[in-house]
Amino acid sequence: AVANIGVVGLAVMGSNLARNLASREGNTVAIYNRSREKTDQLLADHPEAQFVPAYSYEEFAASLAKPRTAIIMVKAGAGTDAVIQALTEVFEPGDIIVDGGNALFTDTIRREKAVRETGINFVGAGISGGEEGALTGPSIMPGGPEESWVTLGPILRSIAAVAPDGEPCVTHVGTDGAGHFVKMVHNGIEYADMQLIAEAYDLIRRGTGKTPAEIADIFAEWNTGELESYLIEITAEVLRQVDAATGRPLVDVILDQAGAKGTGAWTVQTALSLGVPVSGIAEATFARSLSSHPEQREAAASLPGPDEDFRVADADAFIEDVRQALFASKIVAYSQGFDEIRAGAAEYGWNIDLGAISKIWRAGCIIRAQFLNRIADAYAETPDLPVLMTAPYFAEALTSGQAAWRRVVVAATQAGIPSPAFSSSLAYYDGIRADRLPAALVQGQRDFFGAHTYKRIDKPGTFHTLWSGDRTEIEAEDTH
Ligand code: 6PG
Repeated sequence: AVANIGVVGLAVMGSNLARNLASREGNTVAIYNRSREKTDQLLADHPEAQFVPAYSYEEFAASLAKPRTAIIMVKAGAGTDAVIQALTEVFEPGDIIVDGGNALFTDTIRREKAVRETGINFVGAGISGGEEGALTGPSIMPGGPEESWVTLGPILRSIAAVAPDGEPCVTHVGTDGAGHFVKMVHNGIEYADMQLIAEAYDLIRRGTGKTPAEIADIFAEWNTGELESYLIEITAEVLRQVDAATGRPLVDVILDQAGAKGTGAWTVQTALSLGVPVSGIAEATFARSLSSHPEQREAAASLPGPDEDFRVADADAFIEDVRQALFASKIVAYSQGFDEIRAGAAEYGWNIDLGAISKIWRAGCIIRAQFLNRIADAYAETPDLPVLMTAPYFAEALTSGQAAWRRVVVAATQAGIPSPAFSSSLAYYDGIRADRLPAALVQGQRDFFGAHTYKRIDKPGTFHTLWSGDRTEIEAEDTH
């Protein structure tokens, strides 16, 4: 038993993670894959790495020092259950099984419960950063039992991305499914961020007539300011890319139907169950769905839009407005995402440090950005902040950006350019800050047709109006 860590599943993510582990001092990495070709290939390609190949689960277990620690890197779903089953048969109490795939957090809660029965520790860990991140340093979001962190912590800290202040981008998020829950919300925020950037690009292109290459320069410029982030950076790269076959901008020859593997939908489904309004993430997810129905889009293409063509009078002023609208909407998306984590923690009994989450997203993951330091500051100052965007830095940005934000949403609406993430974020902003909402009328309607009752602003209790009788008000049982 010479290895201190093992990896099961050697597709790209798994082999890159295994190489990352092997590259750190003190690590010897046991590797196992269902078919031996991938194992042999990894060994042949990387003779420099401290790998111990195993060709059966028994061999894999025998090559690991105790407590045995193995990271599963297989496609989320039934395959994960099969590997967990196989490992529990060869591992012993105290050993640690880590699932590094994009598992649904409720699956992780179920698996943790089942594996715990055997005395083995099960840790669901969200890993973000794609293939490159797995190799050079991802952001890691482990859940699972606290005691597993003693063994796992130093190993994961050794391979995680490092934030600008030198802190590794990994923390023990909370028990059982907490890590995968947080990774899920990370992906939801990723969807919102991407959609907002896409809407900004579309508005600038259609409003100013600038080319993708010119817009790439705008994004590159934005990347030097408060919007600085990996997603803005890669957007500039994608927009600058020219298609070799046609000589056209690549973005113009890519089919405009966005795919999705499901983590955005999970974020929204979970938010709906928790009653958390993640409208920006939801609109971003729906925007992908809308794009992916060519038959409906073809049928609807004959419906009219505005009569006049859209062209802004002052391109520079409009671009600055779009930048501010993007920043304001981004603040809303993150505020909503952190709200979902807060609500999930309350529902599932996790003690999640929201500031620590923002810190481990500063490097390695897809949504990495300077901006996350501001979120960390906000939670450091007020740990139980009810709405992230009310923290002073964000409130100031919203105060100075809201006029531009409104102008952009008005312009988009008048021009017939869909901007669901921009406009829903603004609607959320106006809704949450409103003194009074028409929810009062909805309560009246509910009481009218279903005797669902309402509360009053001027006295305690629950009330019902006898709508089909003499319309007097009576005290009623609270039915919500
Ligand atoms: C990450 C990414 C990663 C993956 C997404 C893509 O954090 O490294 O989020 O998990 O690229 O699952 O999701 P879609 O295919 O749904 O866009």
